[in-house]
Amino acid sequence: MGSCRVLAVVLAFLALLSIAAARRKLLVFLLDGFRFDYIDDKELEALPGFRNIVSMGVKVDYMTPDFPSLSYPNYYTLMTGRHCEVHQMIGNYMWDPKTNVSFDIGVNKESLLPLWWNGSEPLWVTMTKEKKNVFMYYWPGCEVEILGVRPSYCREYFSVPTDKNFADAISDALESFRNGSAEMAAVYYERIDVEGHHYGPSSEQRKSALKEVDKALSNMITQIKSKGLQNDVNVLLFSDHGMTDISWTDKVIELKNYINMSDTIQMKDRGPVVSLWPVPEKHTEIYQKLKVVEHMDVYNIQDIPERFFYKKGKFVSPLTLVAEKGWFIAESRDKLPFWENGTGKREAWQNGWHGYDNELMEMRGIFLAYGPDFRSNYRAPPIRSVDVYNIMCTLAGVQPLPNNGSWDRVECMLRNTAALAPLHQRSSCALALALLSLLAQQIWSL
Ligand SMILES: *[C@@H]1O[C@H](CO)[C@@H](O)[C@H](O)[C@H]1NC(C)=O
Ligand SMILES: *[C@@H]1O[C@H](CO)[C@@H](O)[C@H](O)[C@H]1NC(C)=O
Ligand SMILES: *[C@@H]1O[C@H](CO)[C@@H](O)[C@H](O)[C@H]1NC(C)=O
Ligand SMILES: *[C@@H]1O[C@H](CO)[C@@H](O)[C@H](O)[C@H]1NC(C)=O
Ligand SMILES: *[C@@H]1O[C@H](CO)[C@@H](O)[C@H](O)[C@H]1NC(C)=O
Ligand SMILES: *[C@@H]1O[C@H](CO)[C@@H](O)[C@H](O)[C@H]1NC(C)=O
Ligand SMILES: [Zn+2]
Repeated sequence: MGSCRVLAVVLAFLALLSIAAARRKLLVFLLDGFRFDYIDDKELEALPGFRNIVSMGVKVDYMTPDFPSLSYPNYYTLMTGRHCEVHQMIGNYMWDPKTNVSFDIGVNKESLLPLWWNGSEPLWVTMTKEKKNVFMYYWPGCEVEILGVRPSYCREYFSVPTDKNFADAISDALESFRNGSAEMAAVYYERIDVEGHHYGPSSEQRKSALKEVDKALSNMITQIKSKGLQNDVNVLLFSDHGMTDISWTDKVIELKNYINMSDTIQMKDRGPVVSLWPVPEKHTEIYQKLKVVEHMDVYNIQDIPERFFYKKGKFVSPLTLVAEKGWFIAESRDKLPFWENGTGKREAWQNGWHGYDNELMEMRGIFLAYGPDFRSNYRAPPIRSVDVYNIMCTLAGVQPLPNNGSWDRVECMLRNTAALAPLHQRSSCALALALLSLLAQQIWSL
């Protein structure tokens, strides 16, 4: 009788605990082009918002992006936990020879075709399918119907959302948590990347964009408290890649100097990684001519390094060119991506870029998190962009789909790792132990 009553109390208690856990909200930030060292210890001194988050939560030393270290490929790696060759979003610019349609960094109409997006199921689609509401703000692709599904709310991306847009998105997301209309919110911020490209990673302009984010985060912390959400919201902040200095004065590779462009059918993107479709009978000749070009590698599909987890992608071109850090590949100088800086003409030079070999230090991004499920004031070892998905699924109470992330690399960040481990990794014994330890902790704290 007695032990039965104890058991009943225990079960009721556990049920309560699991409800509490299931109710936690997830707020994620994708801060484009945020290099890991923008918030090193010295920089943090002048960034109270970030400093506060670091002391309340977890900061990894850095996060290695997937190859290529470009935006769209990594947006999708982060939201699927899969490498580019698995989720199929292999570039900011892609071409499908079968249908002759192009993906041009999300801005052309054809970029919204499911063709590019339904190679893998992103987290927001899984959650929406499970009737969990996801609110997305400026997140590239949230307007796309992927595998037949759209998120509960999508405030569409445009070029370029302002700091006011960002602050408003955060308030709206927190309000949607408070009034119970969203389980997860995802906010995208672009300006750190934009200024990094235009003026370079070390520029005042890039630093000032980061200061604005810092202010918005300080406000967020205040709002979370004033809405009484501090025990109900886990906050994640991560980037897609870093940024490095480029120099168009002396580090441009003009393909027209080496090959006859009319021997190619298609060329996609310019900069660190270029996809090239030669006229089939000219393939070998083009390859040979590009092989001798300095500061750049040219690969046939089968020779692309395994470690890029890229070559099996269905949109990978017959030839892939990869530049050495700081170098910029273009058909010719006049086709460089100049930008409009107020003169009314696209003539200004870019000073920063990314997309290079993903193991390069300057391509590395950030990962920070705080909230009831995270350890506090904890410095975690490096992770990779494929690892983020499992953390998000775990916090959102969703069974992760098969993916390329490592649970071992992220487990250390969480408070109750055993209880939170993705379902498929729990043995029943581990589960029992986890419950016991949870219980022991609760009794201890009573
Ligand atoms: C493919 O599309 C491009 C641009 O839309 C067009 O110029 C070209 O003629 C098309 N090629 C074929 C073979 O249809
Ligand atoms: C994804 O989209 C492509 C092109 O629209 C289509 O051929 C394919 O069947 C779709 N896949 C799924 C799983 O819906
Ligand atoms: C909850 O808050 C969100 C964000 O402000 C708002 O869009 C939504 O209409 C609100 N829902 C209810 C039921 O009040
Ligand atoms: C490039 O190829 C085109 C088509 O084959 C040819 O007409 C042209 O003369 C070539 N240009 C050079 C510089 O060889
Ligand atoms: C804009 O770019 C032009 C061309 O590079 C340069 O001469 C000018 O100083 C730039 N202006 C500003 C305001 O940055
Ligand atoms: C990545 O994950 C997918 C899906 O589980 C799997 O098919 C693939 O083999 C994995 N790739 C690697 C390199 O482990
Ligand atoms: Zn980016």
